[in-house]
Amino acid sequence: MTQTPSPQTQAVVDEMRKYEPRAMITQAPVVWEHAEGHRVVDADGRSYLDFSSGIIVANVGHAHPHLVAALQGMLDQKLLHSYLYATRIRTRLARKLVEATAPNLTKACLLSTGTESIEAAMKISRLHGMSVHSRKSVLVSHTDNYHGRTMGAQMLSSNMKSKNWISNLDPDIVHLPFPYEDRGEEAVHRDLAALADGGVDLDRIAAFFLESYQGVHGPTFYPKAYVQALRRWADDHDALLVFDDIQAGFGRTGKLLCYEHYDVQASLVCCGKGLSGCLPISAVLGPAELLDLPEEGEMTSTHSGNPMCCAAALATLEILEKENLVEESARRGGIIEERFEAIAAKHPDRVAKISGRGMVYSIYFVDPSTGEPDVAMGSRITERAIDNGLMLYLTHCDMVKLTPPLSMPDDALREGLDVLARTVDECVAERAIRRGS
Ligand SMILES: Cc1ncc(COP(=O)(O)O)c(C=O)c1O
Repeated sequence: MTQTPSPQTQAVVDEMRKYEPRAMITQAPVVWEHAEGHRVVDADGRSYLDFSSGIIVANVGHAHPHLVAALQGMLDQKLLHSYLYATRIRTRLARKLVEATAPNLTKACLLSTGTESIEAAMKISRLHGMSVHSRKSVLVSHTDNYHGRTMGAQMLSSNMKSKNWISNLDPDIVHLPFPYEDRGEEAVHRDLAALADGGVDLDRIAAFFLESYQGVHGPTFYPKAYVQALRRWADDHDALLVFDDIQAGFGRTGKLLCYEHYDVQASLVCCGKGLSGCLPISAVLGPAELLDLPEEGEMTSTHSGNPMCCAAALATLEILEKENLVEESARRGGIIEERFEAIAAKHPDRVAKISGRGMVYSIYFVDPSTGEPDVAMGSRITERAIDNGLMLYLTHCDMVKLTPPLSMPDDALREGLDVLARTVDECVAERAIRRGS
């Protein structure tokens, strides 16, 4: 077992604390120095198996040679910025996104961050609603969903604590309860009726926003019947169904885009993170009649469609296709599930449940003495697994979340799962000793 942090590492972490706000610091004190394929090397030269993909970004692995060559090509071409002038790389990416996704998604609006794509989708949704009638501007999202940190996306998200700085919460942004139990059509009608009882005129609903899987305390998927019922309701009431695929997209769950699991048409899809596998780029995908609703110039942003970011995204899409990574993700998820089940069988009083699909899985811990979710155990296992050479991130929840690159070879995946299983044993034993049991 290694020791985190080393004195050398501590100095860098201290400097980060000195010069950056504390709001940026949420993770264990590890200093990333090099990341290639499924390995991360820290400033002390320690190597980690990457079970994080950064934060669900490096879906095709870090610094993939094809991706590096694409970036090198842009450097050699000496085209690092173009504002909104057309570039060949930007056009190729938009076209590729349209061609690779569902036939109704005919345009791609390129932006920089996930939260920015949510803001754009909110704007388009309201423009569409208000084209139906002037008061059709209500946006409905779901409790426990997260959509980003800019003001609109934050209001759409459900965590009240993160919104306490917003003085005037938009009254036209409302939340439905996340359908945790396996619920379908009747839940949609009952929960919408409850909204109406609370004073929301349902005819004013412009759009429903859904995280394709709920990520903060997940992955937790919506019941398919529920999403399909919501789609029908939206169709009957001139409302849109918008998917936030920012975390879930680009092969992570064994589909190119996660919302495809629900067998519905998306009105708009927000993408980010794994789209480029590294550099900041996001997109809103949708039909031309929706994406062309904002007037000319109304959705521009200085860095949108940056040539380096586009080159990274295009290369990532090519790698996903060439290496069959969407299908591989679905297959490799089976390896994780099997091992999680073994861990749960060994610690039945500690493991509350497992959830996941493809290369995103979480295992949830419970305190057997209280029956309550065990957040401390989730964090302890995560930190100790990092010490044991497995790169993870703290979720600050009662769970350990694994999101390895989709390209991780089976033997490395198994090796990492061995490390995790051993770490769970260690942490359970440690807790037993502390309790004197
Ligand atoms: C589901 C989801 N939506 C939106 C965002 C915001 O994306 P970004 O951090 O790129 O702004 C995230 C980021 O974690 C996310 O997971």
